[in-house]
Amino acid sequence: MSVRTAVVGAGIMGDVHLKQLNSIQDIDVVALMDPNEENATTLSTKHDVEGVFGDMETMLAVARPEYVIVASPPRFHAAQAIAAMQSGAHVLVEKPLCITVSETEAIEACAKQTRRQFTMGVQRRQSRAMRAVKQFIQDGELGTVYHSRVWAGHIMSYAWGQYHHRKEMSLGGVLAATTVHTLDACLWLIGAPEPLTVTASTFRRLDKMKSPHVSFEGTATDSTVEDFGHAHVRFADGSSMSIEGNWLMHPTKHGNGFEILGVNGVARDVAPYVELEEGTKVIPYEFNHEEEPDDAVRQEHVEFIDAIRGNGIPIVSFQEALTVQKILVGIYTSAESGKEVSVKDLA
Ligand SMILES: NC(=O)c1ccc[n+]([C@@H]2O[C@H](COP(=O)([O-])OP(=O)(O)OC[C@H]3O[C@@H](n4cnc5c(N)ncnc54)[C@H](O)[C@@H]3O)[C@@H](O)[C@H]2O)c1
Repeated sequence: MSVRTAVVGAGIMGDVHLKQLNSIQDIDVVALMDPNEENATTLSTKHDVEGVFGDMETMLAVARPEYVIVASPPRFHAAQAIAAMQSGAHVLVEKPLCITVSETEAIEACAKQTRRQFTMGVQRRQSRAMRAVKQFIQDGELGTVYHSRVWAGHIMSYAWGQYHHRKEMSLGGVLAATTVHTLDACLWLIGAPEPLTVTASTFRRLDKMKSPHVSFEGTATDSTVEDFGHAHVRFADGSSMSIEGNWLMHPTKHGNGFEILGVNGVARDVAPYVELEEGTKVIPYEFNHEEEPDDAVRQEHVEFIDAIRGNGIPIVSFQEALTVQKILVGIYTSAESGKEVSVKDLA
């Protein structure tokens, strides 16, 4: 039987999800919810969705979806995910998961109480090469991991969409919206160690530039988020991580990536993924892995539907989602106070 599925948020990511959901035989898209009627109508027409709704409560009551994709601005994620689970649906919540650490904990508590499945919309984990790297690190082949570097952003452009430049809607700017993908992937690969402290600086350049390129509706002074940020994280296992995000990056071929430093070598997210070290010699390690999926978003739905049906577990665990959220909230708290923050004190 097809899984009755609903999408919340008819923006850029809602469009991406609808396209991929409609290509999966086991899925029946029964509803699209967005308070912006024009956006909802445009996407429902484009993707042939019959049920169009302007509010969550009516959508859940009338369409009775079994699977809900939350692709609205992050400010609404927690309440909408919880409402969906309480109505009986399993949920995929787009990144960044929500605004606070306590919202993340509330989503987890609700999933446990309602016995619904949860996953987060992050599309690096579907890569078979990345899964091979994860296995390699898990098997201890890279040796003890002592530091990771994560960097990601855009070349001279904010994220597209209506809300990414507004902090009250989006948690933050480049680090929360863009770098989060690479951060999530890197944390997943190293086993999501417990973060202890975060120290960070953030900066907004857009409204100070001579001739800013504005990729959202409005002017440069409307942005209330960072377009550059840097953080240092200490973990309970003794390792550390540096994180850098930049939406207004100078043109470069290495705008996004990570490096995981283990005592035996380096894992990178550009081929060949791992280079081992023997004395002064560098030895590339070749992985054998399954063929890559055609599309990561499609694959994330296929795998989550499998998990809903009891075949396997969701690719994103609560512990991992919570680790990402703690680091993001730690970054903004530290940047605001100008001090290192202790993760256990974050709300
Ligand atoms: N996984 C990815 O690669 C990826 C890429 C882009 C965006 N995203 C994430 O997807 C989410 C949406 O981003 P976007 O780029 O599609 O934004 P967008 O600005 O293009 O669209 C947001 C949509 O949400 C609607 N909306 C506003 N309030 C709402 C509410 N209360 N309930 C439901 N809908 C509401 C808006 O009307 C708009 O249609 C964000 O969390 C974003 O970070 C993920």
